[in-house]
Amino acid sequence: MQNTFIGIFDSGIGGLTVYQDIKQKLPNEQVVYLADTINCPYGTKTIEEVKNITLKNINYLKNLGAKVIVIACNTATSSIIDEIKKSDGYLLGVVEPTANLAKKVSKTKQIGLFATNLTVESKVYDHYLKDVDLYAEKCSDFVLPIEKGQLHTKQMKEMIKKHLAALPNIDTLILGCTHFPYIKDEIEQFILKSVTIVESGKPTAEKLSQYLVKQNLLNNFSDGDIFLTTGKISDLEKNINKFKFKKIKQVEIN
Ligand code: DGL
Repeated sequence: MQNTFIGIFDSGIGGLTVYQDIKQKLPNEQVVYLADTINCPYGTKTIEEVKNITLKNINYLKNLGAKVIVIACNTATSSIIDEIKKSDGYLLGVVEPTANLAKKVSKTKQIGLFATNLTVESKVYDHYLKDVDLYAEKCSDFVLPIEKGQLHTKQMKEMIKKHLAALPNIDTLILGCTHFPYIKDEIEQFILKSVTIVESGKPTAEKLSQYLVKQNLLNNFSDGDIFLTTGKISDLEKNINKFKFKKIKQVEIN
């Protein structure tokens, strides 16, 4: 197992924000990243639909030989929480590490959550954040503009202001969707400096590292990462060109 790769997937480019932190923490690991853009967005689908898609993606990466699978998507994670718990670490979701970090950094225990409609409806963050006041906003309207690279538009600013206005006084804001770090700088323009923004990347990379050490699965050499997508490569080029993937390929997952 030692020399196989880490599988990562998301509905699109969101998981690259997690990928980035994983590469920083574990530079000697090889990654196969799957962007399931044909099914993007996940957050406005039903939980059954997302669960079905998520299990297919997991099977696909498992059959390729992944030694561990990171579900770099809060929505997909929310749809299979029980399967993740039963997997003994083989499946690593982003919600638990993100929620734990938020709990650690929040002093007032007044925490805001920006996540997709489905993540909010699933109440998965409430499950991991029992002793805090959690104020959740359904923000699926951010996802497609982010996926299309429309980050700094007037519409984006209006949407951010609307969602922030719905929150009371918080000291921590969880970006509970891996697409949202792309608009972190925009969000920061409208929140108090005292509010800490918590993202999924770093705490997930930390938990992954602990798992690989414990299971004795660390690699000491990576010969390059692979990027797979179920959608059109041309739609993603702008976002993936800044990474050094050795291979970029379109795949079909049934
Ligand atoms: N990046 C995803 C998440 O973390 C999902 C976005 C979507 O496809 O709705 O929830």
